[in-house]
Amino acid sequence: MTMLLSIQSLCKTFGGLEVVRDLSFDVPDGTATALIGPNGAGKTTVFNLISGVYPVTSGSIRMCGVDIVDLPSRHRIGRGIARSFQNIRLIPRLSVIDNLLIGQHVKLKRPLDVLRPFRFARDHEWIRAAKAELSAFGLSQYDDEPVGLLPYGVRKRVDLIRATLSSPSLLMLDEPAAGLNASETRELHRHLDILRERGTTLLIIEHDMHFIRSICEQIVVLNFGCKIAEGPFDQVRTDQQVSEAYLGTERAT
Ligand SMILES: Nc1ncnc2c1ncn2[C@@H]1O[C@H](COP(=O)(O)OP(=O)(O)O)[C@@H](O)[C@H]1O
Ligand SMILES: [Mg+2]
Repeated sequence: MTMLLSIQSLCKTFGGLEVVRDLSFDVPDGTATALIGPNGAGKTTVFNLISGVYPVTSGSIRMCGVDIVDLPSRHRIGRGIARSFQNIRLIPRLSVIDNLLIGQHVKLKRPLDVLRPFRFARDHEWIRAAKAELSAFGLSQYDDEPVGLLPYGVRKRVDLIRATLSSPSLLMLDEPAAGLNASETRELHRHLDILRERGTTLLIIEHDMHFIRSICEQIVVLNFGCKIAEGPFDQVRTDQQVSEAYLGTERAT
């Protein structure tokens, strides 16, 4: 099977603190992998290392066989990596469309400037692309709504659309179901199903075990920065070390 992402002997220390220790795992192309573990295990740090927010202390991160550890964060987007954050990063007073347009302009120095000409060119290809994407996910009714007025679950999915407008091959989601009610979680699930039908590979940090079980083929479990288990859900669930380290505290966050 082709490995889209391959992590080898990854280490990260902050000051003297070893947060990620000798971590290796693979994410096969077209699959969904969950990264789980207790609070503080190092999950978000792994995302920050993959997306280039932090430099690695040692180890390699390969996308389609190419080591990307020395690439600046913005160039990793060009390599097909996109992510959503634990806290939604949208501008509340701007409309859904305008937020998506800003997402298209992450590379520009002053992203807000670019909105001005767009207001006079409503049929610009980027606007059409953003609208088509909102329609594909059943969110057209919110096109011109200020993001700040939307229900949380819709905001979350607009944030996902922002992350996937560039058609990434790998989408990393940091606790996407956190704070969502049952029906919003189902909508999110459907949203991710559509992305998977398109062939997007998913790497998901999540505490909701039902959610993980229904989406992910593979689970990697971290504890104190080390991988303590990996495999299909049912195999990981019955692992002794995992129950001790993680499952007993899964609702602690
Ligand atoms: N920028 C940073 N500087 C220092 N310590 C950090 C930094 N980011 C994370 N950490 C520490 O790394 C550990 C793992 O954090 P994190 O990756 O956020 O865990 P998780 O996402 O699994 O809850 C924690 O002890 C946290 O305090
Ligand atoms: Mg985290």
